[in-house]
Parts: sequence; structure tokens; C-alpha cells
Amino acid sequence: MERIPLIKSTFYNEEDTKRKLCEFIEGAQFLSMRTECEKFEKAFSKKQERKYSVFVHNGSCANMLLIQSLINMKVFNQGDKIFVSNLTWPTNVMPLIQLGLIPVFLDVELETLNVSSEILKNGYKEHPDVKGLFLTNALGFCSDIEKIQEFCDEKEIVFIEDNCESLGSKYKGKRLGNFGLASTVSFFVGHHLSTIEGGMISTDDEELYERLKMSRSHGWTRNNSDDFKKKMRDENDIDDFYDIYAFYDLAFNFRSTEINGFIGNTQIKYWDEIVSKREENFKKFNEAIKKNDDIIDLKLDGMSIISNFGMPVIFKTKELFEKYKKAFVDDNIEIRPIIAGNIAEQPFMKDKKCFKTDLKNSEYISENGFYFGNNPEMNEEEITRIINLLSKN
Ligand SMILES: Cc1ncc(COP(=O)(O)O)c(C=O)c1O
Repeated sequence: MERIPLIKSTFYNEEDTKRKLCEFIEGAQFLSMRTECEKFEKAFSKKQERKYSVFVHNGSCANMLLIQSLINMKVFNQGDKIFVSNLTWPTNVMPLIQLGLIPVFLDVELETLNVSSEILKNGYKEHPDVKGLFLTNALGFCSDIEKIQEFCDEKEIVFIEDNCESLGSKYKGKRLGNFGLASTVSFFVGHHLSTIEGGMISTDDEELYERLKMSRSHGWTRNNSDDFKKKMRDENDIDDFYDIYAFYDLAFNFRSTEINGFIGNTQIKYWDEIVSKREENFKKFNEAIKKNDDIIDLKLDGMSIISNFGMPVIFKTKELFEKYKKAFVDDNIEIRPIIAGNIAEQPFMKDKKCFKTDLKNSEYISENGFYFGNNPEMNEEEITRIINLLSKN
């Protein structure tokens, strides 16, 4: 049987994109961050329905830069506790630790793979001094995210979203990534849009936007608005001559390149097409899952669009998990553990200061589930092969 890989291509419409990319590189005078990146940021903001976006190397940098900027703004302070989802990617949690914050792991629901408002409220009872929630919208899904937002508002918990796995999904008509103060996405190959490597942070908060741009680029203000430049200069008593070599706050160099910006501008045109193909596939896979009582049903009631790049399957027993895992492997369909499993137990967490709430569901998902790819280039034959395996024989 021909292999069905997790990822089928680097880009959507690959041949055409590569050809355009070659022409662009040949004709471009500059390839460091300029107009293509700016154009991509603007196009992304429009599509995501956010005021501002900042393009960086990858989703991990986006997370790091967002946390650093919130620390620079004193929204978060050294030693603050931050809630995170226990089913997430390591570079969601690592920046918190690297930047002196303390992760508090929250469990997820078996039926959504995401943190619910109930889980959040229970976590809050144990940790009422928590300052933030860095929520992962896992695998294109969410739970009752508007209730999460309400609870965070009520308790003054700063709510930010890691939307690296859910670009394009909507809950009750609203895009995931637009519930919190800011959200991050990844454009790594195989994600919803690919710029090979790439990431974005989006927000409606102007001050945060200016801070993100400053800390993306060494801590100087060359890419900032005139008002922000003046403010930083005045606050720090810097004159014109020294301004372009003044470094105003802790920063990185996370700038992208015109090559990645150009790719972003070609790929963003396919956003709707990519999302709708994935959604069609998702519906077919989910139908098969619903008919099979070996598998735990997904409950995604409030979701109006589901855009996922991997289809999770959680089994009712360990034996069933082993049986289906073998069937997929034997049929040459690539599968993998769900995200990073129970992340609080990953080796990198050894000896790190953190708090754990009851994490039994994420442990269960890690032990009894896998996912296979859901990409827009899947053909009918591949979909049928997968559906046959998901059906009870
Ligand atoms: C939830 C989550 N956050 C962050 C990242 C990191 O993104 P990147 O691979 O672009 O660094 C990923 C990557 O898959 C992810 O799934």
C-alpha cells in the first residue's frame, strides 16, 4: 500500500508557488525584512480580523516574543503563575520557564482535547493568585472558549491564545485566536498555511503591537510608529543621533525574510480553500468515528468551522488503541502521538518549578490516542482507506 504521510507537501499549490518564488528571488533587490513581510502582516490581520500582526521566524518565536513583550509591559512579572493547557507543544510552556514565570498545568477534556471553563474554574480554586492563561487551541478545536474569556475577564486573568494548531477554526462564528488579548500562529510546513518556517502574533492592542515590533528587532524602534519612537526617546532622554542605536528593552532578533513574506502572500490566497478541504475531510473522518463505539466521540457543539491538520482518535481501552495503531501502521498510514502527550511529564520538565492540577485526561489521551494527517491534498482513495480502518469490522 502506498504511504499516506502526515504531510504531503511544503506548500499548497506547490509547483506554482515554487515557480513564483524562484522568479521573485531572481528579481528582488533586497531579501531582508521589508515590504513583502509588511504586506503579509496586513493581509493576515485582515483575514484573521485583528488590527495588528507581527511576522516572525516561527510559532515558537511568536510565543517567546509575546511573553517577553508582556513582561516588558509589566503585565507579567517574575514568578507569576500562568495557566497552560497540558496538551500542548513544548515551546508553549518553555518560554514561560525561560522568562521566569511558573507554569500551572490544566487538564483537557477527552471529548474536545481542550481546556474547558469548568477545568479553568477548578484550577483557579487551587491557584487564585494566577496571573495569566496561555491557552492552546489544540488540533483545530476548542471547548467553551467564550466562557473561558468571561471568567478571565471577571478574575482579571490575562488571557492569551496559542492558536498554532487552529488557524481558520471558528467558535460560534468567531475566529479562534480572537478571544484573548493576543494570539500566536505557526506557518511551519504541514500547518494550515506554510511559509516553510514562520509565525505570527496578532492583537488589537496598539501598545502591545508596538512592543512586539520593538522586541522582535533588537529592542530598537526603527520599525515602530513615529509616536512610539518619540515616546521611547522622551522617556529615556535619547537624542536623534543616538536613537537608531538605542536599545530600549529586552529583545531578540526574530525578524523573518522577504522570501518567507513572499511565500506567505502567495499562500494566504488559498486560506479558504485549504480550510474548507480540511473541514470536508474532518467531517468524513468524524462520521466514521461516531459510528464506531471503540472510539471516544468528539463533542464540538459550538464550533462553526473546524480547521485541523491532524485528526485525533482516542480509544476506549489500551487494547483497542494497540489494535488500531497496528492496523494503521500495517496499512502504511503515518500516525503519531497526540501533540506532545502529557507535557508536564516530558523530560524537559524534570526539576522545573511548576504546579500540576489533576491531569488524568491528558494522561489518558497520551496513552490511548494517536493522530493521522488531515491535509488538503488528500484524495478520495486515501480518505476511503482511512475511513475503512476507522470502521468497526
Ligand atoms: C501549540 C503549538 N505551539 C507552538 C508551536 C511551535 O510552532 P513552530 O513549529 O512554528 O515553532 C507548535 C508547533 O506545532 C504548536 O503545535
